[in-house]
Amino acid sequence: MIIAVPKEIMPGENRTAVVPDVAAKLIKKGFEVHVEKDAGINAGFTNERYEQAGAKLFSDLHQLYSSADIVLKVQRPTEHPDFKKNELDLMKKGTLLITFLYSLHYPETAKRAAEAGVDVISMDALPRTTLAQRMDALSSQANLAGYKSVILSANYLRKIFPMMMTAAGTISPAKVVIMGAGVAGLSALGTAKRLGAVVEVSDVRPQVKEEVQSLGGKFIEVPTDASMQDSGGYAKEQSEEFLKKQKELIFKHITEADIVITTALVPGKKAPLLVTEEMVKKMRPGSVVLDMAVEFGGNCEVSEKGKTVSKYDVTIIGEPNLPSLVPYHASEMYSKNLQNLIEYFSKDGKFVHNMEDEILKGATIVKDGQILHERTKESLK
Ligand code: NAI
Repeated sequence: MIIAVPKEIMPGENRTAVVPDVAAKLIKKGFEVHVEKDAGINAGFTNERYEQAGAKLFSDLHQLYSSADIVLKVQRPTEHPDFKKNELDLMKKGTLLITFLYSLHYPETAKRAAEAGVDVISMDALPRTTLAQRMDALSSQANLAGYKSVILSANYLRKIFPMMMTAAGTISPAKVVIMGAGVAGLSALGTAKRLGAVVEVSDVRPQVKEEVQSLGGKFIEVPTDASMQDSGGYAKEQSEEFLKKQKELIFKHITEADIVITTALVPGKKAPLLVTEEMVKKMRPGSVVLDMAVEFGGNCEVSEKGKTVSKYDVTIIGEPNLPSLVPYHASEMYSKNLQNLIEYFSKDGKFVHNMEDEILKGATIVKDGQILHERTKESLK
């Protein structure tokens, strides 16, 4: 089977779906790997390295797509600026596309894929099971995003992170508040601690308290119970009443922070609003808010997608694609996730799209011209 790797065209996307080392591993497993020229260049992987790995380079995108059985991408398909056509319409019927589709937020793209006869496995829809852990690209990317969120915020802060006792006086440590202790939040916690900050973390799932404490964070208690977590380990959607109470409780923590990083997510739903404009107004002058959930509605009332703005002397960062700011390692990890998925479901260089399997059943959005993913169908309604 032929695997094709086009260059990402979504603005701001620097990652690539397959790095040279992974190309070599897939070739060893019996696949042919075709790569669009410069597909890895923004992430730091030269065309020569792909050639050395045994991949074939293509300058003509039509040629690349016309031979492909499987297309590996990072971003959902979008209109190609050179061809004025959606990438899906460049793929041949029966192609299997594996990418981050985010079909609950972009169900129209799933519909277009079905119309184009392109099958889609979405990396954001994999079940978070032990078996699927090695393929869990949401986690690998969120981990890096958590790290980068701290580095980026630190750059805007007028202060340093660690406590310093010097002959010129004592500097007290920066205070970082993190909302949401999932993969991104815990990674941000670890990074902020390593830089010397005092870190407070809040989450609606009481189950995460121990993890926060073991990483040296203080857990902000919001009265909840185990029922806030679903069987997949994700948070359930919260009531307006709960969110109001939560805002009252976290008000003091937010307004006394130097940096607030929000990572609160309920899968498939609009992000809960946690940091209101009122809170931002009362934050310390020069403080920073980084809203990681900005892509899906935002946790902060005044964040703007893709922009860093200053309001009430607070810097508010709305960077929707933090992994793309560390594209070398983000590509390495993502392509390893893809390799694990492909190898697990392949035999003799052929991918077996087995819909009886729990992982593929969960992650297949479109197959044979039909949307199979129930929640995507509901989102379309
Ligand atoms: P996750 O599902 O592992 O963690 C989300 C956490 O938020 C969970 O622990 C959940 O219990 C918590 N949460 C839900 N509602 C809450 C509330 N009202 N208050 C406090 N906590 C609440 O998700 P992950 O992978 O850590 O991603 C977090 C967010 O970051 C998502 O919105 C994701 O889309 C976004 N993200 C953004 C990136 C960027 O570049 N901006 C990159 C990666 C992820």
